[in-house]
Amino acid sequence: METLQWGPDLETGIAVIDAQHKRLVQLVNQMYEARQKHDMNTVGAVIPEMVDYSVSHFNFEEELMQDAGYGLLKVHKWLHEQFVNKLPDFQARYQAGEDITEELYIMLSRWLTHHICREDRGYVQSIKAYLAQNGEVSAPGGSTASGSA
Ligand SMILES: [Fe+2]
Repeated sequence: METLQWGPDLETGIAVIDAQHKRLVQLVNQMYEARQKHDMNTVGAVIPEMVDYSVSHFNFEEELMQDAGYGLLKVHKWLHEQFVNKLPDFQARYQAGEDITEELYIMLSRWLTHHICREDRGYVQSIKAYLAQNGEVSAPGGSTASGSA
């Protein structure tokens, strides 16, 4: 199986969001590559990091959608919740000694690709317009979004 490839199809054109999506793709691939090398210590470290990062990224996106007055915020939040709700089960099974890495990788890579390519596209216009009017937005990790993005 191939790792996830970052490409133009995954870009929203909003720099701060793209940087966070790239980080998510990186973490998913890191987990999968560690599993292929039987480096279970890295797998064990990457899973919670990925979970935490997903949650903080979703919160960031949701705040930005709210500030931008994006009409489909409620639905988008629900989609994020559906995804986050799947994670504790994977974590519990992993902690119980089950090798869920491949299943988790497939779920994450499919969900992320679909979500970024389809559902995240929905807010791009609203958020771009909001950033153009309001300028920079600070993000977790210190990166910023520029209104000209
Ligand atoms: Fe999203």
